[in-house]
Amino acid sequence: MIQVENLTKYYGQTPAIKGLTFTVQKGEILGFLGPNGAGKTTTMRILSCFMPASKGKATVAGFDVFEDSLEVRKRVGYQPENVPLYNDMSTSAYLSFVAEIKGVHRKERKRNIEKVMDECGITDVSHKLIGKLSKGYRQRIGIAQALINDPDVLILDEPTIGLDPGQIREIRGLIKNLAGRRTIILSTHILPEASMICQRVIIINEGKLIAVDTPDNLVTSFQTDSRVLLEIEGPPEDIMKELKGIDGVVNIEKKDPISEGAFTYFVDSTLARDVRKDLFITISKNGWILTQMHTIDMSLEDIFLKLVTEEKA
Ligand SMILES: Nc1ncnc2c1ncn2[C@@H]1O[C@H](COP(=O)(O)OP(=O)(O)OP(=O)(O)O)[C@@H](O)[C@H]1O
Ligand SMILES: [Mg+2]
Repeated sequence: MIQVENLTKYYGQTPAIKGLTFTVQKGEILGFLGPNGAGKTTTMRILSCFMPASKGKATVAGFDVFEDSLEVRKRVGYQPENVPLYNDMSTSAYLSFVAEIKGVHRKERKRNIEKVMDECGITDVSHKLIGKLSKGYRQRIGIAQALINDPDVLILDEPTIGLDPGQIREIRGLIKNLAGRRTIILSTHILPEASMICQRVIIINEGKLIAVDTPDNLVTSFQTDSRVLLEIEGPPEDIMKELKGIDGVVNIEKKDPISEGAFTYFVDSTLARDVRKDLFITISKNGWILTQMHTIDMSLEDIFLKLVTEEKA
């Protein structure tokens, strides 16, 4: 549905994205991950014909974003980082205004507006002034305006930013429901969110693509250590020293005390060696009390930090 090849953008002399290449399949939800300034918004702006690239090529449904931008615009709905909402307009008046700008045929406007208000759960505020609505509702209106011309592709720049946990959950549910018939690209700083809603994620850093895969595959292919959580009652210095000496252990971190004399420890070891038996034997041999032991899978967040820090190094 979307093909991006060697896409590059300079702002003046400074490159914001450098030779990005990726594809997005029809009906897929693709997540854009990257630290501040990575180039997420820049890429999204190019794909939604907001501004041209300096080099490279991008097509949406076979149409070039630069050469056939009218055709692309018809097929893409874009929710920018800050949706320009008009506070003194009612929800329905604003959507009608956007529909007109986007060239939605007069006859279809009313039906489209009702449909997107229903899809985005804003029918009950259709007559309210936008300025009086909560952030969650405003965010929904931002998504609704992107949907107004019934686009095949939806590009959402940080759709859950600044929302409370309840609202975040609702917006995530909304995005999932919108997928399938539509292809969605979204950017986020919330990594568990990407694992939850995206089929694939792209990690970009300083304008370069550093990884693209399903969240699960990223975790399995970049996981180098395995991690065990322990809760032990006993003298922390001795515990750290003894456990560090176990063959295969590469790192130990002590966390805050859980109760008097008991701490949580994270023990990292090489994937090739299961150190749990040795941990147990060492702890019991020293007469310390083990109250908990379990393995922890690396999260997308761990992988992200690892990849981004490695790039920097
Ligand atoms: N209009 C502009 N003029 C000049 N430089 C810009 C402009 N917009 C962005 N940049 C620069 O381009 C780079 C990429 O910015 P971009 O906004 O695409 O990052 P981002 O990944 O969306 O970051 P964030 O997570 O903070 O939203 C940054 O170094 C930024 O300073
Ligand atoms: Mg951005």
